[in-house]
Amino acid sequence: MTRKHDITLTINGHDHAITVDARRTLADAIRDQCGQTGTHIGCEHGVCGSCTLLLDGVPVRSCLIFAVQCVGVAIRTVEGLAQGDELHPLQRSFIEHHALQCGFCTPGFLMLAVGILENEPNISDADLRAALSSNLCRCTGYANIVKAVRAAADELRAGP
Ligand code: FES
Ligand code: FES
Repeated sequence: MTRKHDITLTINGHDHAITVDARRTLADAIRDQCGQTGTHIGCEHGVCGSCTLLLDGVPVRSCLIFAVQCVGVAIRTVEGLAQGDELHPLQRSFIEHHALQCGFCTPGFLMLAVGILENEPNISDADLRAALSSNLCRCTGYANIVKAVRAAADELRAGP
C-alpha cells in the first residue's frame, strides 16, 4: 500500500495543502493538485528543462524532485513573475525579442533566466550561453532567447 503524506507547498507566496504519494513529483503536484499549470512537463526525466522552477531562488527541474521534499521551501513558478498587469522584464523581453514560437519551453526558460540573473546579475555572455544551454527549445534556434535574456539583464542592472 502506498503511504500518503499531508503536506503544504508554498507557491508564489501562497500555501497549498495537499495529500500526495511519497513518489509524487513536484511538477505533477503543482500542476494537478495546486492548479499551477504554467510549469510545463516535457521529457519527465530531467533532460529538457521545461519544468524548471525556483526552489529558494535556485533553478530546479521539478520533474526530478518529489513534492514531499519541498515542504518549507519557497517555490516560485512562472505564474508569480508578473505583478498584476505588469509583466516581469524577462517576460517583456521575450516578447520584444521574439524569443518564443510555440511557447512550450518558455516557462522553463523564464524561470531558469530569473534564477541566473538574480544569482549572477553581471554574468558574462559566455557564461549566460552556457547556463541557458541546460534547457531545450525545438523552435527558436536559441539566438533570440539569449538576446532576450541579455537585454533583460541590462535593463535589470540599470534599475528602474
Ligand atoms: S520535464 Fe523536467 S526536465 Fe523535462
Ligand atoms: S518555443 Fe517551441 S520549444 Fe521553444
